[in-house]
Amino acid sequence: MAKIKNKKQTNPILDILTPIGLRFNKNTLHIGESFTKIYGIIKYPNKVKSEWLSKITNIPNTVVTIGINPVDNTNLVNAISRNIVYDRSIAESAKDPLARQRAEKSAEDGEKIIMQIDRENETVALMTICVATMSRDEQDFKRVCRRSESMISVLKCKMRAIPNLQKELFKHIYPTFTNREKIENILQKIVPISTFVGGFPFARSGFNDGAGYYLATDSNGGLVITDIWKRESDRTNSNIVIMGNSGVGKSTVIKHIILSEFMQNTKIVLIDPESEVRHEVV
Ligand SMILES: Nc1ncnc2c1ncn2[C@@H]1O[C@H](COP(=O)(O)OP(=O)(O)OP(=O)(O)O)[C@@H](O)[C@H]1O
Ligand SMILES: [Mg+2]
Repeated sequence: MAKIKNKKQTNPILDILTPIGLRFNKNTLHIGESFTKIYGIIKYPNKVKSEWLSKITNIPNTVVTIGINPVDNTNLVNAISRNIVYDRSIAESAKDPLARQRAEKSAEDGEKIIMQIDRENETVALMTICVATMSRDEQDFKRVCRRSESMISVLKCKMRAIPNLQKELFKHIYPTFTNREKIENILQKIVPISTFVGGFPFARSGFNDGAGYYLATDSNGGLVITDIWKRESDRTNSNIVIMGNSGVGKSTVIKHIILSEFMQNTKIVLIDPESEVRHEVV
């Protein structure tokens, strides 16, 4: 279970961590001095762009939680298969063209997911996203809600402030409570793990700076070429960390980087506790 929190501008995070008082209404709640509305995302687009999750977690004046629960693929495939059979029967028997189309689309989507899980060995998980909008000023709060709703709809997601469940939603997003089953039953959606992981900027695919070191290929066969000296708004220094299981090739990649830098006359200082590296003059 991973929870990601985001908060920008004013300071409602303090209210949520140390609330002075709590009052729950049908669609909103008051946390200390803050007006708050907790939404759940009830619909996601069929296709998402890379980094899509960071667009949600960066909405100003919100606290966003993302819950991810791994699931057993076999049970899931069986459950989706049953749904496909059901949708197909609706599609064949429905007289209303709209209901038929929807059932057909739903069956097709189910088949696509099964193919991903079964043939391509894709791991899936159940994802729950909640968005809490917060402001200390009532007028500003309305603006914050409208802006958040429109930013979510631009991403082709749908979110709803689930009526009468603001208390449960508050407990769901609050760090010291466990996840609420009632909320998960409403909001959980099946997503391939790659959709979740690819939702963040640090897991970009096709990472190619056009110059620098060729480090690897990504899962789509794209080249990963990194120029550690490149500067952009989100890359303000050259620090990197190489992580991986034992024997996976970390030292090899570091030696490759050192050699490339050495060839470009970069001054190199090595701290090498295992004495893996030697300087040989040829
Ligand atoms: N891209 C690669 N293709 C094939 N073999 C590789 C590749 N990269 C590294 N190796 C080989 O894999 C072995 C382990 O590599 P390396 O020592 O770099 O791993 P490591 O992640 O640093 O391991 P450790 O955690 O034990 O330090 C070495 O024999 C290396 O030659
Ligand atoms: Mg090593």
